[in-house]
Amino acid sequence: MRTLIIDTDIGVDDAFALAYAARTQHLLGITTVFGNVAVGQAVKNARLFCEKMAIEAEVYRGCSRPLAQRPSAPATLHGEDGLGDAFDNPFSDAAPGAVQFIIDSVRAHPQQITLVAIGPLTNIASAINQAPEIIPLVKELVIMGGAFGTGGHSGNVTPFSEFNIWKDPHAADQVLTSALKVVVIPLDVTHQVLITGDEVERLNQPVLSAICRPYLAYSLAKEGFNGMALHDTLALAWLSLPDAFTLTESPLRVITEGIACGQTVRKLSALASRHNPFEGLPTQRVALAVDADAVRSHFFQALTAP
Ligand code: BDR
Ligand code: CA
Repeated sequence: MRTLIIDTDIGVDDAFALAYAARTQHLLGITTVFGNVAVGQAVKNARLFCEKMAIEAEVYRGCSRPLAQRPSAPATLHGEDGLGDAFDNPFSDAAPGAVQFIIDSVRAHPQQITLVAIGPLTNIASAINQAPEIIPLVKELVIMGGAFGTGGHSGNVTPFSEFNIWKDPHAADQVLTSALKVVVIPLDVTHQVLITGDEVERLNQPVLSAICRPYLAYSLAKEGFNGMALHDTLALAWLSLPDAFTLTESPLRVITEGIACGQTVRKLSALASRHNPFEGLPTQRVALAVDADAVRSHFFQALTAP
């Protein structure tokens, strides 16, 4: 069992991932970031969700805007409040503290903490910028984000970019090119692992059923599919079932401007050129294939266990 800090812009699939994490790993804390919702709403959502699901974890407020680019509007797919507008939310926002919490926790527990980032990478980039000495002290960083084109999965916001990376491409480029030990779980694999509306009901988790209703309705209306990709859950699944994933290793970059802004790229060419944007960069691990049945069955088992 790993000790985790989960960094999230908590929307619907983030909430599913948190429920799964609470049943499979040790959760040290939840740090929030803008993305699916504004960061203040993410704090309130995380607090509400933890209370409803009896998850014990402190919630910290993180960054409210990207490092360099102009902020963009929150997502709409997850409902106005990010959790399907299913519940009144009596919880309050918090004072900023997420970046410091990440730094302090890693310093206090060297090589013990796994960071799991399931939103934009702004908090993680800020932590390593403010305290670069924590980089070798982080056990690993697992990211749900990016898209590398396998099976046509090259983006979900633009034809080139995935939401979490597109929201703050500068932060993502800093994190992926750092010496952190990173595992990237991109759309290439998260789009392989789906859950239907009927399967959500069979989990017998009323809170999860309630929060995903508008998301499923949207998917049915738009795609003719009453279901959704588990996206963020896959970052957690890699921790429990590493053998279910096929990883490749490569230096990684993120395009930070132009028509392909937010695109994640890996080094595919051995061309010896003076113009090499991967020069001297560490390799990172990227998942390009997954045993979807293995992940789905582990997820169902974890969520239905007494
Ligand atoms: C990612 O985008 C968000 O909307 C989801 O929560 C997930 O983290 C998928 O591209
Ligand atoms: Ca997310």
